[in-house]
Amino acid sequence: MTKETEYAIEVDKLTKRYGDLLAVNDISFTVRKGEVFAFLGPNGAGKTTTVEIIETIRTPTSGKVTLLGMDVTKKKHDIVHRIGVLPQGFSSFDRITVRETIQYYSRLFCVNTDIDGLIELVNLKEKAKEQYKYLSGGLKQRLGIAIALVNDPEVVFLDEPTTGLDPRARREVWEVLQGLKEKGKTVFLTTHYMEEAELLADTVAIISKGKIIAMGSPGELIENNAHYQVLTLKSVDEKAFEIVRKLGFEPVRNNHRNIRIMVEHTGDVLRILNTIKDAGALYLGLDVRKPNLEEVFLKLTGEALSNGPVGEREAE
Ligand SMILES: Nc1ncnc2c1ncn2[C@@H]1O[C@H](COP(=O)(O)OP(=O)(O)OP(=O)(O)O)[C@@H](O)[C@H]1O
Ligand SMILES: [Mg+2]
Repeated sequence: MTKETEYAIEVDKLTKRYGDLLAVNDISFTVRKGEVFAFLGPNGAGKTTTVEIIETIRTPTSGKVTLLGMDVTKKKHDIVHRIGVLPQGFSSFDRITVRETIQYYSRLFCVNTDIDGLIELVNLKEKAKEQYKYLSGGLKQRLGIAIALVNDPEVVFLDEPTTGLDPRARREVWEVLQGLKEKGKTVFLTTHYMEEAELLADTVAIISKGKIIAMGSPGELIENNAHYQVLTLKSVDEKAFEIVRKLGFEPVRNNHRNIRIMVEHTGDVLRILNTIKDAGALYLGLDVRKPNLEEVFLKLTGEALSNGPVGEREAE
């Protein structure tokens, strides 16, 4: 018997070992029905392992995972009809068109899919007759999302749907994901991109080395973990950079000769600015703000999530 709960997914003390490797280490979390839940972490953190256990594809070493009230190790056949999956690194048949691909998967599932509605939902109307091999990376991913939806699932799993896409293609995928949320689907998204989680997710779980190290809404994560401010100095010269370092801070350079400095007190900002001024060193502008999620992540884990978004965001 399945029990009705407010949760689409319940994960309790889940552990997965591959031989000696502890890939997922005693994690627990819940995903509410209708929310977008982002599972965010760097390469090898344990995202795909966790998501594929929830999808019934892999078996847990220990712990309990429930999907729509059903135990994933016991109810595989009931579960697969109610979920949709876009696997990491998805690809399809080269020589069949967008429409034929969706038709193919729809028949495979023995379901009656509203194919035109689906093509519209993922914004592929103009490409419906295009063969898979001629689609750009972003269009391929959107087709992958359409395939994940052929059985009109309640819960949709998307494993890194935007990795490797350029910023514009990534945004187009985001629009599709926002459409899924509006339709009331529960979306489980794994990603390297903080920006993506910040924009789309109701709840973000940060996973690092098999452990969840922080969880909450994007706002809560920043509020609870960021007891500092980010000072950006624009167009600094070498002398100013050295001064900041000698004061005991760790300035981070980015393009355009800007530097970012984490400061705990407003007094630190004044100390930095005054010391630079007294030494006759140069900068052309400044900005003090709360950290974004990417910086909170960096502080929590000591490692960067990816090379992409921070650089892109600052360049914009
Ligand atoms: N089938 C497997 N056999 C042995 N080790 C595995 C297997 N699958 C994953 N691993 C290892 O488990 C760890 C977690 O891998 P996983 O694929 O879950 O991480 P991930 O967070 O999805 O990473 P990525 O962002 O690169 O996709 C890694 O060290 C990986 O090498
Ligand atoms: Mg993965």
